[in-house]
Amino acid sequence: MALAACGDADDRPPAPPSGPIPVDDDPIAREAYSKAVGAAVWSGHAREDDAYRRRLITHFTSVTPEDGMKWAIVNPQRGEYDFTEADAVVEFAEQTGKRIRGHPLVWDLQLPDWLEDGDFTPEDLEEILRRHVAELVGRYQGRIAEWDVVNEPLADDGSWEENIWYRALGEDYVRIAFEAAREADPEARLFINEIGAESRGPKSDAYLELAGRLRRDDVPIDGVGFQNHATGERYPSQARIERLFGAVRRMGLDVAITEMDVANAGDGRQASAYRAAATACAEARNCTGLTVWGVTDRWSWLGRDAEPLLFNGRGRPKPALDALLMPFSD
Ligand code: G3I
Repeated sequence: MALAACGDADDRPPAPPSGPIPVDDDPIAREAYSKAVGAAVWSGHAREDDAYRRRLITHFTSVTPEDGMKWAIVNPQRGEYDFTEADAVVEFAEQTGKRIRGHPLVWDLQLPDWLEDGDFTPEDLEEILRRHVAELVGRYQGRIAEWDVVNEPLADDGSWEENIWYRALGEDYVRIAFEAAREADPEARLFINEIGAESRGPKSDAYLELAGRLRRDDVPIDGVGFQNHATGERYPSQARIERLFGAVRRMGLDVAITEMDVANAGDGRQASAYRAAATACAEARNCTGLTVWGVTDRWSWLGRDAEPLLFNGRGRPKPALDALLMPFSD
């Protein structure tokens, strides 16, 4: 999987340790926006960076744990679980009335060594996958609005990403993951999620075809996530996003923008990119919300200098903030 605009995460300051997030501001009401407006969150940043925490509490109505639910963090050793980070984000969201997106259940990055390096049969891996989904989804049953069940299943050319799951189980790992998630939490809306599938091309075509096939094959899928990691040079237009959302609606599925950021863009183009996605989501009946991948530039996975988010490194709003919020505020 090639990360779009993969930044130099090494220039991020080390993530502060996990822990409870204090609620020391008046949370924005869920109803303030017509759709969920979310941010990816690491509890340590919220606890130690006042600007990050204030903006998170007062501007966002949804959260996604940025890394707290990833396999290497929740299940570092076989049979051992550590939900400290995931619990901190979930409990903060519940204290502040925010929606929660669970992310991710099945992916090929940030897997623990015991899994990556293990010598497992396909049957072993199916059991490991089912147990992981049951453990993680079951822990938060009834509290998560949407899960990214399978994250980034495709390669850039639209073929299957040959990850550990595909190599062992073929494309059937997707059905197994969705069925295990539905069984563990019948209330949660179950999404597939992809990077770089917004622009025209083989990946976008293959992603839409996969979503439609899953739906037709009665796999318990409810929605399709488009991450929309964009740059000032390359971001999808409102019309392009509307076409994608319409194609998914005709499948009978929801859509969401799940991880948006707009790197290395001047204020004008950055605001245009956010406005395009927000307007398309606000006007699409089947769009459940738009999540940006972080709160302030200081802690972006792309590094502070990419300046991809709605608030700068010190937490001051950029023109992109109003450009994104206006379509949800009518
Ligand atoms: O938790 C360890 C810590 O113990 C260790 O000391 C430190 C230094 O090695 O690494 C920490 O883990 C890092 C983790 O973020 C938590 O901060 C990983 O090295 C680092 O690779 C990881 O990066 C995350 C990346 O996904 C890989 O999981 C980024 O924060 C996160 O923004 C990024 O988000 C992904 C989405 O989940 C899926 N879509 C693409 C998006 C961007 O890559």
